[in-house]
Amino acid sequence: MEIKKIAVLGAGQMGNGIAQVCARAGYEVKMRDIDQKFIDKGMAIIKKNLERGLKKERITQEEIDETLGRIEGILDLKEAVKDADLVIEAIPEMVKLKLDTWKEVDEAAPKHAILASNTSSISITQMAAATDRPNLFIGMHFFNPVPVMGLVEIIKGQATDDSTVKVIEDVSSKIGKDTVLVNEAPGFAVNRLLVPALNEAVYVIQEGIATVEDMDKAIKMGLNWPMGPLTLADFVGLDTMLYISDYFVDEFKDSKYRAPALLRKMVRAGWLGRKSGKGFYDYSGEKPVPNRF
Ligand code: 3HC
Repeated sequence: MEIKKIAVLGAGQMGNGIAQVCARAGYEVKMRDIDQKFIDKGMAIIKKNLERGLKKERITQEEIDETLGRIEGILDLKEAVKDADLVIEAIPEMVKLKLDTWKEVDEAAPKHAILASNTSSISITQMAAATDRPNLFIGMHFFNPVPVMGLVEIIKGQATDDSTVKVIEDVSSKIGKDTVLVNEAPGFAVNRLLVPALNEAVYVIQEGIATVEDMDKAIKMGLNWPMGPLTLADFVGLDTMLYISDYFVDEFKDSKYRAPALLRKMVRAGWLGRKSGKGFYDYSGEKPVPNRF
């Protein structure tokens, strides 16, 4: 099956990145969100990201215009998916919201369309079961920032067909991403490791073992990570980290995944990391300044 038209649900951090890489690869993209202001913001970020490449002579102005011309911002969900060959969902991590959205998409999308979720942890099988095409349902987990990160983690649900996997491997390759194929499990493979590791860094702060800047420096220089774990936690979003940790505890029935109290307290205070301007660092000035705990 050849994919030509892609609907991306959500114009946020992940959605606009996914729309960008798909349009850059030549796909016709409809990027849907629930409010015009989210679409406008997503389009502005895509434009800015493409223009970064202009300065480095990796893309021409003509290619930027063509790429932007292939992305249509849209509010109506049914309109967005009605002629899509592939629907990639990147909406907030709320189980009920995802299930309701997938039911609506399933009714409106062509029968042949593949449905892919960019969820960071929620069960692919559970979402697939909300549709009448679980064989065409799959996980397509991107990493932030999407235009830069080279991996798509493909997740096979209980009923996903091998032919669906093959199509998604081909699309991933066409948009310049390498893939790993994993079976469904909470957090799949990457977040199974990442979230406990970042939580452990938060425990180090909570227990007063190191300062924020020293913990980040230690891991950046000692383990050669591109970002320290607390910078990365702020980048991923502390609410996302907390959500995934709580989901792990519920799903695995194992308290070893429990979130540090400090993380929960910060989320309750609205300190969500970079997106809210405050997390382990304060982002209100020119450079991030580490907070004291
Ligand atoms: N969007 C697009 N491009 C970006 C970008 C962004 N937000 N941020 C940086 N870039 C580009 C820059 O233009 C630059 O391009 P170039 O090398 O071609 O010139 C390149 O990325 C490197 O950027 P910088 O030199 O400014 O900065 P760094 O060298 O520090 O790289 C980084 C930035 C790529 C973000 C790097 O720090 C990194 O890899 N960090 C770790 C990111 C990570 O772990 N992501 C996964 C998060 S987990 C996840 O998403 C899963 C979810 O389910 C939780």
